[in-house]
Amino acid sequence: MEINNVLVIGAGTMGNGIAHIFAQSGFNVTLVDVDDSRLEAGVNTIAANLDRQVKKEAITAADKDATLARISRSTDLKAALPSADLVIEAATENVTLKTEIFRTMDSLARPDVILATNTSSISITLIGGVTGRPDRVIGMHFFNPVPVMKLVEIIRGYATSDATYATVRDLSEKLGKTPVEVNDYPGFVSNRVLMPMINEAIYCVMEGVASIADIDTVMKLGMAHPMGPLTLADFIGLDVCLAIMEVLHKGLGDDKYRPCPLLRNMVAAGHLGRKSGRGFYDYTQGK
Ligand code: 3HC
Repeated sequence: MEINNVLVIGAGTMGNGIAHIFAQSGFNVTLVDVDDSRLEAGVNTIAANLDRQVKKEAITAADKDATLARISRSTDLKAALPSADLVIEAATENVTLKTEIFRTMDSLARPDVILATNTSSISITLIGGVTGRPDRVIGMHFFNPVPVMKLVEIIRGYATSDATYATVRDLSEKLGKTPVEVNDYPGFVSNRVLMPMINEAIYCVMEGVASIADIDTVMKLGMAHPMGPLTLADFIGLDVCLAIMEVLHKGLGDDKYRPCPLLRNMVAAGHLGRKSGRGFYDYTQGK
């Protein structure tokens, strides 16, 4: 089946980034969220990121306008589903919410349509299992900022078919991304490797091994990471980091994945990183 109309569920950071790259690659995109203000904020972010690309002369102003013209908005998921050729769910990382959305998607999308999720840690097999088409359910895990990061981690659930995998791999290449094939185990590869590193950096803060800035400097200058692990944790969101550590700990049953108590305290205190204004660093003064 030819894919022209892509439905993206969730206009937050990941959803608007995914809508951005699909529209920029020539697909018609419908961005769905629960209210107009979220859709407005999502599309404004896409416009601002396209402006950044225009300023850098990576695209022209006409490309920007054409990209935005390919994006429509909807608050009515049920009405938008029947015309979709592909659905990518990028809603909040909550298993009850995601399974409910997948049941709705399965009941209203055409039977041959692939249902993908951008989940960072929830089992694709579990999500596929609530639908009548687990062979057409797959993980399409993008990285923030989506227009910049080259990777798409493609996660095959236990029942995902070879044909579904091949379609999503080819599609990722059309978006200019590099796909990697990963099987469905907790945290996949990206978060299985990344989150324990971030968690260990937080243990270093808790135990007073070095200052926050110095821990980041070690990893930036010593390992050539673009951001130190604590800056990155603030960028991802400490609540997201904690949720992923819980998935690793529960799913793999090994105490090497136990979330650092300082991470738990910071999340309980509402210090979630950039989005709340405070995490390891203070963002209330703008940066
Ligand atoms: N949209 C479009 N372009 C953007 C952008 C956005 N949202 N954000 C940055 N850019 C572009 C800039 O315009 C610039 O373009 P250029 O190379 O053509 O000049 C380039 O990206 C670099 O940006 P800046 O110069 O503003 O800033 P930096 O050099 O500090 O780079 C960064 C910013 C790309 C975010 C870099 O710090 C980085 O790569 N950080 C690590 C990000 C990372 O690890 N992400 C993965 C998080 S984990 C995840 O998402 C998975 C989840 O499951 C947890």
